Amino acid sequence: MSAGLLTAEQVLQAGQKLLELRPLSEVFETILDITVQTMHAETAMIIVHTDEALQLAASRQKSGESRGLDEVSQSLVKESITSNKPILTESAVEDPRFSGKSSIILQHIQSAMIVPLSGRNAVEGALYLDSRSDRDLFRKENLSPLSTLAAFATLAIENARRYDRARSEIAALKSGDSKRLLIGDSQAMRELYSLISRLAPSDLPVIITGESGTGKELVAREIHRQSNRAPKSFLALYCGNVSPELFESELFGHKRGSFTGATADKQGLVEAAEGGTLFLDEIADIPLSLQAKLLRYLQESEYRRVGDTETRKANVRILAATNKDLQTEIQAGRFREDLFYRLFILPIHTPPLRDRLSDVPLLVNHFLRKVGTKITGISPDALRRLQTYSWPGNVRELENTIVRAAVITTSNRIELEDISHQVLSRSATSNEDWSWKAAEKMHIMQVLTLCGGNRSKAALMLGISRRYLHYKLKEWEEPVAR
Ligand SMILES: Nc1ncnc2c1ncn2[C@@H]1O[C@H](COP(=O)(O)OP(=O)(O)OP(=O)(O)O)[C@@H](O)[C@H]1O
Ligand SMILES: [Mg+2]
Repeated sequence: MSAGLLTAEQVLQAGQKLLELRPLSEVFETILDITVQTMHAETAMIIVHTDEALQLAASRQKSGESRGLDEVSQSLVKESITSNKPILTESAVEDPRFSGKSSIILQHIQSAMIVPLSGRNAVEGALYLDSRSDRDLFRKENLSPLSTLAAFATLAIENARRYDRARSEIAALKSGDSKRLLIGDSQAMRELYSLISRLAPSDLPVIITGESGTGKELVAREIHRQSNRAPKSFLALYCGNVSPELFESELFGHKRGSFTGATADKQGLVEAAEGGTLFLDEIADIPLSLQAKLLRYLQESEYRRVGDTETRKANVRILAATNKDLQTEIQAGRFREDLFYRLFILPIHTPPLRDRLSDVPLLVNHFLRKVGTKITGISPDALRRLQTYSWPGNVRELENTIVRAAVITTSNRIELEDISHQVLSRSATSNEDWSWKAAEKMHIMQVLTLCGGNRSKAALMLGISRRYLHYKLKEWEEPVAR
């Protein structure tokens, strides 16, 4: 058989075809068509490199038989991918990388050619061609046009991946994920969404930890929304600042006459939430005397109303939240260790806003829509300040900042002067100032905010003396208005 040579025109034609937007499977078929038809390859394979392993994405055999990855020289494919260079084997029979193999097919390969599919960021895989019948099929002259074809193919693969991803994202949006209560598409939030969707279907209790204002209650609502309890109630009980008696009656109900003021039988929240979800907010504050009763409910699904002898059963999933460190509470004797272990089966943590500042623009738009004013946006300067502040009060503080700014602004968008002094004085100033002094100030201010204003801590973190820090702060002090 005569050696096939790819002409520049064929490569260009193929390239054009490949660059039309199409699903990945069609792209692969087109690449295989061209290599088998014009280059007379006996076998053509597209091998992709994912998670350190080789995967056969598509293949074509002239004979119609089917060959797997174990019947190509994987070491050669890997070599081509890691070196990002094409490989041409003109005398495969003498090459130990082929002849040393146990596979009959590998032992009979006469010639082979491997071209890496090298993408913008990484080598995606390789195009592999071989022949058992023709020793002289692939030539050096073919390397260059085939590499051009491979470049087109890689672009097409990248495009097709993007196309497939966009289609599945649209499908996900259509399937109701647009109802999600939480805003943000940072990596930290995506991990949170993925965990929520895995925990939601279970009936086990979930403990939600995180700083104040990070959305713990929203996470609880979202878990309920995604669970099969969604058609039933979601009820919430705040555990701080209530007397143990009142709290017990709220949670489990009471019998008439069981205490002054109990003029009638009353059902508690565990009863009212039957079949649904009960959210216990600030669980660390639950009175110690009641922790045993909650534990009993968690273990047996049983409880008694205050002043009643009858044992009742309920089917309610408990979700709990805290911004305290429960281990410290246990050590201080304020929280039962057995209750802790019962609750900490499925923990979930809400990330602080300072770790996901890329979500600020999305959140700002969300809150502007929520207040429903005529204000349509925010100036780039103002947004930049919001994105360089450390948000100790997290999303709640951002929400308050936006609501306040939307009320006081005289423009149709939020301007720098509408942002609260608190945020302005601790965020990075205009990016027009590239001086060392400005960068130093911004860095020191951020570290200081991170340390909650504690100068000794900040000085330690910055690796400077407290005296020097003090001197710097004095230097920047704003003149007091008289
Ligand atoms: N990811 C988010 N997307 C949209 N809104 C959010 C998000 N996170 C928090 N919020 C909003 O911020 C406010 C505070 O949230 P939430 O009450 O859930 O916080 P929390 O963690 O329970 O705080 P605390 O510990 O102080 O009770 C709410 O108005 C909530 O709607
Ligand atoms: Mg809360």
